[in-house]
Amino acid sequence: MRVLVLGSGAREHALAARLAAERDVGELICVPGNPGIARIARTIPADLTDLDALVEIADREQIDFTVVGPELPLSLGVADLFAVRGQLLLGPTASAARLESSKAFAKAFMARHGVPTARFHISDALDDALAVVRSSEFGWPVVLKADGLAAGKGVIIADDRASAESGVAAAMGERRFGAAGERLVIEECLTGPEVSLFFVSDGMRALPLGSAQDHKRAFDNDCGPNTGGMGAFAPSPLVDAALQTRVVHEIVEPVIAGMAAEGQPFQGFLYVGLMLTATGPKVIEFNVRLGDPETQVILPLVDEPLLPILVAAATGDLRQSMCRLGRDRLVGVVLASRGYPEASESGRAITGLDEAERVPGVTVYHAGTARRDGRLVTAGGRVLTVVGRGAEFSEAITRAYAGATRISFDGMQYRKDIGRKALAYKS
Ligand code: AMP
Ligand code: GLY
Repeated sequence: MRVLVLGSGAREHALAARLAAERDVGELICVPGNPGIARIARTIPADLTDLDALVEIADREQIDFTVVGPELPLSLGVADLFAVRGQLLLGPTASAARLESSKAFAKAFMARHGVPTARFHISDALDDALAVVRSSEFGWPVVLKADGLAAGKGVIIADDRASAESGVAAAMGERRFGAAGERLVIEECLTGPEVSLFFVSDGMRALPLGSAQDHKRAFDNDCGPNTGGMGAFAPSPLVDAALQTRVVHEIVEPVIAGMAAEGQPFQGFLYVGLMLTATGPKVIEFNVRLGDPETQVILPLVDEPLLPILVAAATGDLRQSMCRLGRDRLVGVVLASRGYPEASESGRAITGLDEAERVPGVTVYHAGTARRDGRLVTAGGRVLTVVGRGAEFSEAITRAYAGATRISFDGMQYRKDIGRKALAYKS
C-alpha cells in the first residue's frame, strides 16, 4: 500500500517509524514531515490547513491510505473532503471531531449519554458566567474551559471567587483565548491521578491500544505552566484489566454508540483523558487523535502489525476486540527550547543525536527540528522526544535520560522526573 501520514511532530515520526517497518507498506509519504521522518519516508511540504492541497497530494501520489496525526486538519474537515474524493483516510469527520474541538459539545454529549464527567454548566454570555461562578455551585476550586481548540492552554483552575471572576473576564471580556473562549464550560474540579487510554474505532466498535500518563506541566514535580506534554510513560500502572473493562463499558461503548446514534459515527483514534476519582473514572477530555508524547511510548508496545488495524478501522471492518501488547515499559522525555511553552527559540545547532541513538534501548523522535546548511537545528518549542525502553520502569528511565544527556543545544530544557510517578505507584 502507498501510505500517507499527515503531521510534523514526534508523534508522526513514531507513527511513520512504525509503518515504515511493516510488510504491507510499499511507499510511505509524510506531509509535511520533519528531518527525522525524512530519513525513513519521503516528505512533501504543505500547509496542514490547506485541505485542497492535501487531497491533491493524495491523488497525485496515488495514496491508498492516509493517517492523520494532529487535530487541526480533522476539525477543519480533512476526513470529510477525503471521503468525498474517494480517498481512504483514518480520522473522524469535522462533526465527530467536535468531541475535541468543542468542549461544550463534548460535555453536552456526555450528559446525553450518561458518560461520567465533572458536573458542568455551559455559558455563552459574560453575565451568565459571572452569575454561575458567584453562586459557588461547583465549589472551589472551579475549572473554566474555553470551548474551542486552544492548544492545551484554554483551561483556568480558579481557587476562589475573585480569581474565577477575573478568569471569566479574561476569557469572555478580553478574549484571551480568542474565539475559542466565546463560550465557556464551567465545571467542578476533580481530584485524583490522571491517566489516558487510547482506542481506535471503526464507527461501531473500539479496539484498546494501551494506556499512558502524560506530564503536562513545564517543570519538575508538576510545577509551571501547562504544555502540550513534556514526557510520558506507558503503560500506566494504574490501569489494570478491571479498570480498562470499566472504562470500555462506562465510557467508550456509550461514546461510540452515542455518536453513531446521533448520525456522526466516530472513526479514528479516540484518546480518553481520565481522572481516577474516589467515585470512579471520570472524563477530563477527549482527543480525536493520538497524543503527543504518548504515541511515542504506546505504539512500540503494540505487538502486531499496525497498518491492517488502521485500515480495518477506516473501512468500518474492525473485527478484533483486543490486540497484543508487549510487556516492556517505555518512558519518553521531551527536549524543549528555551522559553517553551510561552515562546520558543529556533535555529540552535543540535549535537549528540547519533550518540544518543547508540545507547541500547533508546529511540529519538524529531519534532521541532530543521536542516540548515546540512546541519540539524532547532525549529520550535518541543524539539525531540527521547524514548527509553526496558523491562522495568527504572531501566526505561535510566535509558531515556542516558539518551537525553548525550544531546545538547543552546537553551535545551527538559524535566528530570519523567516516569518517577510510575515508580512511586509500584507496591
Ligand atoms: P484539558 O485541556 O481539558 O485536558 O485540561 C487541561 C488540564 O487541566 C488537564 O490535564 C487537567 O490536569 C486539568 N483539568 C481539566 N479539567 C479539570 C477538572 N474538571 N478538574 C481538575 N483538573 C482539570
Ligand atoms: N499530550 C497531550 C495531548 O496530546 O493532547
